[in-house]
This record gives sequence, structure tokens and C-alpha cells, in this order.
Amino acid sequence: MRKASIMVDREFAIGETDPRLFGAFVEHLGRCVYGGIFEPGHKTADGKGFRRDVLELVRELGPTIMRYPGGNFVSGYNWEDGVGPVDQRPARLDLAWFTTEPNTFGTNEFVDWCRAAAVEPMMAVNLGTRDGDAARNLIEYCNHPGGTAWSDLRIKHGWKEPHGIKFWCLGNEMDGPWQMEYKTATEYGRIAKEAAKMMRWIDPSIELAACGSSGRNMPTYGRWEDEVLEHTFEQVEYISLHTYLNNYAEDTASFLASPDMMDQFIDEVVAIADGVAARRHSQKRIMLSFDEWNVWYRTRRKRADRVKEGWPVAPPILEEIYNVEDALTFGGACISLLNHADRVKSACLAQLVNVIAPIMTETGGDAWRQTIFWPFAQMSRFGRGRVLRARVESETYAARYFDPRGSSDLYFPMPETPYLKASVVADDKGGMTLFLLNRDLKQGVDVTVDARSFGRLQVKQAEELQEDDLKAFNSSTDPLRVQPRALKDVSVSDGKIRLKLKPASWNVVKLTL
Ligand code: AHR
Repeated sequence: MRKASIMVDREFAIGETDPRLFGAFVEHLGRCVYGGIFEPGHKTADGKGFRRDVLELVRELGPTIMRYPGGNFVSGYNWEDGVGPVDQRPARLDLAWFTTEPNTFGTNEFVDWCRAAAVEPMMAVNLGTRDGDAARNLIEYCNHPGGTAWSDLRIKHGWKEPHGIKFWCLGNEMDGPWQMEYKTATEYGRIAKEAAKMMRWIDPSIELAACGSSGRNMPTYGRWEDEVLEHTFEQVEYISLHTYLNNYAEDTASFLASPDMMDQFIDEVVAIADGVAARRHSQKRIMLSFDEWNVWYRTRRKRADRVKEGWPVAPPILEEIYNVEDALTFGGACISLLNHADRVKSACLAQLVNVIAPIMTETGGDAWRQTIFWPFAQMSRFGRGRVLRARVESETYAARYFDPRGSSDLYFPMPETPYLKASVVADDKGGMTLFLLNRDLKQGVDVTVDARSFGRLQVKQAEELQEDDLKAFNSSTDPLRVQPRALKDVSVSDGKIRLKLKPASWNVVKLTL
């Protein structure tokens, strides 16, 4: 059994978690929309065609904000195709995923779905094949009360009240050659700045996110953020980050270490953004929107393969089946996000249903939770509050991370990895929640948390996600094969919490006064 210790003081905080840290993402991709959140005719569908079984699981998952409509899809999307009488909407070829988009679900349906799910909509505009003109028209359509052509069109379409969408993404992954009309940092920076300016002129209450790099492994990473922010600094509140963690190398210890790269990535983007601020002698701080993150590697598709499949409507693509080790790595990513609550003010799990998702459905059938559902739901439920500056003492191990997009060096250098990764969130009632990942595959860890400053705490709830078979997963026939169970070895005395964590385990412990 290893030993580790954590020291926290309730007065020493990193920052308050923003509710938008617990967001997710719905793209017109595969069966995320059609057969996922929207399936008229399904036995649980409501009058609008929204699957009630999915809505129930979404409420349990607890996302707070939902990004839409892409993703790669948005870079070729004409938003006008998705509004108005459904039988008059055009079907279009979608060049992001080589499918046919029927457009029977669009902006207004999405906003209605968000209201039904009690989440805030986050809208991305197309800055690939289109520009500031389409973006300003969309915001006029969505947010202007009435009396103009676009806002009156919304009213004519049946939505009298403005949608009041606050959070807008200026395009998606515009540095990526796989994107429709990807751009250099100069080209994108100029277009994003002008689009942002016009959008805010129409609705000054909006918040805007510029595209950062589509990954830390992009050749233009760093220079891209610097130049894009040089153009957009005065216009935007956020810069975006994307990360998909993988276990291509089948090296589980390194896979579990990989979320630590998200910590580095965040620190680097903060440094670049603050560097841009420093050059301008500005007090403004650009916040981070980690608007795509997850584990994803088994179901990545090459464009050549997509072409061979023709142009199907809502095919079952990117339907990653998540196992236990994925959920552990995913839990590590949750900790990385929580521990940067001071700068990461928004984040979106990519995606919500079927497509690299915590919720799976059968079209015409049931819905169930994937393994990654659990850490997300726990983070959203217990992660609200002040993240404390925890001092974690733990033995470390060496890990190396395989980078599928890298050119010369296929392995990312990684710092020494502590076996124990932890986050501590204090709530406003004097209690706290511990999020603990034991990355040792063979040994348990004996953890002592010194929480003297909290007074007399008691354990309210303690759960672990742990299976001897790290490849176990949930399915329609065994939907609860993997689920959290009670963590038994927890005790509190003399201001100290003592826990015994199993090897390769994710643990969440809620303590109250
Ligand atoms: O989430 C799947 C895809 O990953 C998104 O469409 C794109 O933005 C990213 O490359």
C-alpha cells in the first residue's frame, strides 16, 4: 500500500467554479441529434420529438451549458437552412462528416431542447465557409426582440420571444486543415474580430470565445493563440482549447497520466493570453473555454473512409464505447478542469449522446449511461464551490504520452506523474468534496487529508469507481455493469480524513459539517 497526503486550508482557494465549467456539446454528427436527443416517433418522444428517456439521463448527468451545432459541422453550416417550416428545409451534403444533413432540427428546436433540459445554449457561428455577415444575421434572428427582417422572421417561425443566447463561439478549430475553409491566424484573427464587433453591436450583453488551437500538438500551437488574441483581445472574453486523450499505445499507466497534459496546456494558454495583455498594459484577463474535451481514439475516421460510405443520414459514427480505464482518465481530466477554476470558466464535454458520449441510445430503443457518465455527473453535482489550493504529496512515476498527430516526435514529454491526482472543492455550507484518482494499477493508496480548518466534518457520501477488469463497459444488455459503489474505508478524526483507495480507482467523498 502506498501512502499519500493532502493538506488544505479553507481560506486558500484557487477560485470559484463557474457553473459553465460543467457543459457539454451537441453537434450535427452521426446520431447525436437524430436518434439521440431528437427522434420523433420514438416511444418516449414528446410533442416536439425530444426523447424523454434521453432528457432524463441528461438531467441526471447535470450539464449546465450546451455547445451547438458544431464542431467541424459548423464550418459549412447555413443556419438559414435549419429554420422555418420543416417541410421546406433543404437537405444538404455535409462535408465535415460526409453525410446528408436533413435540417429537420435547427436553431429554434435546439433552443427549445435546451429549455426542456434546463441548460444554457452556447452557439457557434460559421467562420469557415461564411463570415461576419451570416453571424450578425444569426444573432439578429436569435436575440433581437423584433421589428427587423431577421427578428420578425423568428417571430413568424413561431418564437415570439428572443432566445437571449449569451455565449457565442467564433467558429470552430479554424487552424485545422480538416476544417472547411481553415485559415491562417492572421486571416482568422481579422474575420473573428470583425464578426465579434458586429455581433456585439447588435447585442452588447453577449460573451464571445475566439478559437484557440484545435490541440496542443498542432504545429502552429502557441503562435496561433498569440496572433489570434492580438487581433481579438478587445472583442472577446474567452479563448478556446480542445483535447482528446487516447490510449493508442495501450499503455494504461501513461493513459492515466495524460490528463496532466491538460494542466500544462491550460497553464501555457493562460501564459500566452496574459502575455498579450502585458504587451498592451491591459488589466483585462482572457478566460479559457475548454469547449471540447474527452477520451477519443477508437472511432476516429479518415476522410477516405468516410467517402466510401456514401452520404447517409445520421449514420452510427464515432460511437466510442467507453470502458473503466477511460472513465479513470476522464476523471483525471475533471480534476484538471476543477483545479484551474480561476481561469477555465467554461468547458464542454464532447459530446452528449452517441457520438463520443456519456449517453448511448438505440434508435427506436433504450438509452443508457456509459462509464464516463459517472465522473461527469459527480463533478457537476459536487464540484460547485471554491476549489482549494491542495498540497498533494504522492510518489510519482514516469509516463510517456503517444501523440497521434505529432510529426517527428511521436511521444510528448511528460513531467513525473504523481500516483494520486486530487481536487478539493469547499461548498458554501462549510463542507467539502474530495475528488481522488489513484493511478497506481497495482497498489492501493492510504491517503490522509489534513483539513483542520474545517471543524468537525462527517462523511455524507463516499463512492468509488473501480473494477478489476479495466476493460469492462456498459451496454444495452448490461447497462449498469460499471457504476460507482460505496467507498467503505473512510474515517474522520482530529481534523483528518483517512481513506484507503483501491488500485486504479476514481473516488468522490462528500463531507459536511
Ligand atoms: O467532437 C468531434 C470533433 O472533434 C469536432 O467536430 C471537432 O471540432 C473536433 O475535431
